[in-house]
Amino acid sequence: MTAVQAMAAAVVELQGAFPEGKLVLDAEALLPYGKDESDLGCFPPGAVVRVESAEDVRTVFAIASRHRVPVVPMGARSGKSGGSLAIHGGIGVSMERMNRILEIRPGDLTARVQPGVVLGIFQAEVEKQGLFYPPDPNSVDLCAIGGNVAENAGGPRALRYGVTREYVLGLEVVLPTGEILRFGRQTIKGVAGYDLTALFVGSEGTLGIITEVTLKLLPRPRHVATALVCFPDVATAAEAVSRVLAAGVIPRCLELIDDVSVKAIAKGSPFQLPPGAGAALLFETDGNDEEQVFAEMSRVAEMVQGSASGEVIVAQNEAQRRDIWETRKYLSVALGKLAANKLGEDVAVPRSRIPEMVARSREIGKAHGLLVATYGHAGDGNLHCNVLYDGPHERARADAAVGDILRAAVDLGGTITGEHGVGLAKRDFLAYEQGDAVLALERRVKALFDPLGILNPGKMFPES
Ligand code: LAC
Ligand code: ZN
Repeated sequence: MTAVQAMAAAVVELQGAFPEGKLVLDAEALLPYGKDESDLGCFPPGAVVRVESAEDVRTVFAIASRHRVPVVPMGARSGKSGGSLAIHGGIGVSMERMNRILEIRPGDLTARVQPGVVLGIFQAEVEKQGLFYPPDPNSVDLCAIGGNVAENAGGPRALRYGVTREYVLGLEVVLPTGEILRFGRQTIKGVAGYDLTALFVGSEGTLGIITEVTLKLLPRPRHVATALVCFPDVATAAEAVSRVLAAGVIPRCLELIDDVSVKAIAKGSPFQLPPGAGAALLFETDGNDEEQVFAEMSRVAEMVQGSASGEVIVAQNEAQRRDIWETRKYLSVALGKLAANKLGEDVAVPRSRIPEMVARSREIGKAHGLLVATYGHAGDGNLHCNVLYDGPHERARADAAVGDILRAAVDLGGTITGEHGVGLAKRDFLAYEQGDAVLALERRVKALFDPLGILNPGKMFPES
């Protein structure tokens, strides 16, 4: 039987199992399910089920197993590495209807949510109760918690508060075999058995489909201070980052903006940098004691001022703070004003190698005759090197530059992906970082959970 016939037979079964509103079969309606926030193209699935329960997911797996068709989990489709793209067609399992906050327990500092909850809605809800959920991959209004867990999302506040992994206590998942399992814990501590929760966080929708998440919360810090400081060039800014961290000061965010990004900001971002800025650092401190928050800000300021061009600009009110962050948040979009296309990477290097990585990405851009914009979570050594290119005629060169950037990060003791995931985008580079033996073990782990290989095929590992 061909793949087309198998899918047709699966669709007949899906129609029997799900009412019309839950099942999407119309080609035009399927199109949006074929895209994410990467530059990898449109790969719509042959059908989408808007599941409403773990049972629904189990039903999809049963049908897919009988006909050996792919199952691709998808949420808000805001991913940057192609994890939700149905590159081999099959059935998309959309979590959009599983979007309920099930409970928030202030006494335990935990919450239980369905995976389709939009992050910003959840954060606003916990903040109303004086609580705090720090991870934010810079897309709060868009991204969903299930995707954050699947990709182990990071973002600016990871510097002080860590990434999504640090907040996921327990999960309910459906395995391709049809098992519905709950593992992990509701407690802060807990070491019973293998840490299957940790294995699932960042597994990029290749092991099972998450249907419920138990999250850890923190008390909300009462004060936040945001500041921006400019530098003559990106090298000086990168050195300032290393200096702050080496002194043992860990602000809650420490973001780098390079000269190319500065040019993009000049084209109409809400917050305008002082004229002549060659690069900038955006940093933020927080805590419950206002004086202490500003004292920490002053310490950072002291350490960077020597090499800065101009004063540290401290946000004076909520509106200015919002403008600064909007400018940073939409940097990825603003870069679109400098070139028609871009490939945005998310390498991470050890902190002491940050200046070298920044320099390497520029050299690589030059060698390929392309502009590279580098910005991002410099405090974590997590840099968004964006290769800008003008159209299909430059795509091969852009891909080559990306390859060089990923290898350079690994050569500096870093990783090909600090937060966006391997997905489709970087599957051919995983072996360069991890080696064949580790990859072989990972494939065996995958096969244990997904013996038929129907779940999100072609992701994370190079196609064999
Ligand atoms: C950011 C996304 C691209 O930090 O990770 O803006
Ligand atoms: Zn980022």
